[in-house]
Amino acid sequence: MGLCALAYSGGLDTSVAIKWIKENYGYDVLAISVDVGEERDYEGIRQKALQIGAVDAVVIDAKQEFFDEHLRRAIWANLMYEHKYPAFTSLARPLLAKKQVEVALERGAECLAHGCTGKGNDQVRFETTYAALAPHMKVVAPVREWGMTRDQEIEYAQQHGIPVPVDKKSPYSIDVNLWGRSIECGLIEDPSQEVPEDAWLWTTAPEKAPDEPAYVTIGFEEGTPVSLNGERMDGPTLVARLNQLGGAHGVGRVNMMENRLVGIKSREAYEAPAATIILTAHRDLESITLDRETYHFKPYLELRYAELVYYGQWFTPLRKAIDAFMAETQKRVNGEVTVKLYKGHCEAVARKSDWSLYEYSLATYDTGDKFDQSASKGFIDIFALPAKVAARVAREHGMEP
Ligand code: ARG
Repeated sequence: MGLCALAYSGGLDTSVAIKWIKENYGYDVLAISVDVGEERDYEGIRQKALQIGAVDAVVIDAKQEFFDEHLRRAIWANLMYEHKYPAFTSLARPLLAKKQVEVALERGAECLAHGCTGKGNDQVRFETTYAALAPHMKVVAPVREWGMTRDQEIEYAQQHGIPVPVDKKSPYSIDVNLWGRSIECGLIEDPSQEVPEDAWLWTTAPEKAPDEPAYVTIGFEEGTPVSLNGERMDGPTLVARLNQLGGAHGVGRVNMMENRLVGIKSREAYEAPAATIILTAHRDLESITLDRETYHFKPYLELRYAELVYYGQWFTPLRKAIDAFMAETQKRVNGEVTVKLYKGHCEAVARKSDWSLYEYSLATYDTGDKFDQSASKGFIDIFALPAKVAARVAREHGMEP
């Protein structure tokens, strides 16, 4: 009997999938869970898979790799899909799929399976990664294929001895990793209404946040955050600390209309305190360390990069090429930024860098000014020349310049 490697979350869908794959495809199932910072009982999840009937179950801690290979690059690219979503789910899926493929190849599996529906982006991200890393393998998407309603699925679970959560089920569908928490379904699907307060877990309501602001200083080396208030720490720890601190001050709530790759517009709610703080600080440090032309050009590629990551095109030549550009720009992005957190608001208030391009003697209007103001005259004569000629020709034809 063949082996199928399933990306296993421990939830109802992927639990039912263990049995369903066996029944419908005859494969033994190997359950693979990947820890990208959700802080769950992974040993419990592993045991659950075995109890349901997986022939084996493995858990992989990929937090450091998630930071080093994915989040670091997201920071370099100031990654925000549609200017609002830090794309944490989009960033994690290719890594989950890659880990799954690694184990599948090691164990000689012939099939890969995931628990995504047919309406979302995640199926695309998983399968695009499979196509790049293991094109010879068969792919099964049980939730997309089985056509069961929620009630039928619960009935199937009960008939097959699969534990169904008994507690009053949350109306929301949640996805969590180091970089953020997404909340979908339930009342969130009505965009004319404010996101209900019970959807939020990581963030205090801004109006209930402390009356005193918090300040935090983030140190960057080549665009990567490496310290908080002067204390060096590894990436996952730094991100977790900022999620705590930012969340307490109500920072990082997002509510947006989002364009999915599969053509649907959806209403989304996200909590991403650390991502909000780090990107605010990072952009600010770029504003003092990057030359004007790079600083103006980079956002074009950032936009394309966000799209490409959201679309699940992680293992592609374009992603690697844009990363190479970003990495080159980040060589100068060294220094410290102090961010002020206050009632949901997050602002960079001070910055310091050995790589600063700010020159007091050029900027000041006080004594010590080294800028040669007389040189501006000739500069403007030439700079304004095209406008001057075009305006003259317009006037000759009775047109407003
Ligand atoms: N809309 C976001 C995205 O497409 C979040 C998806 C969350 N995924 C999930 N299975 N709950 O990246």
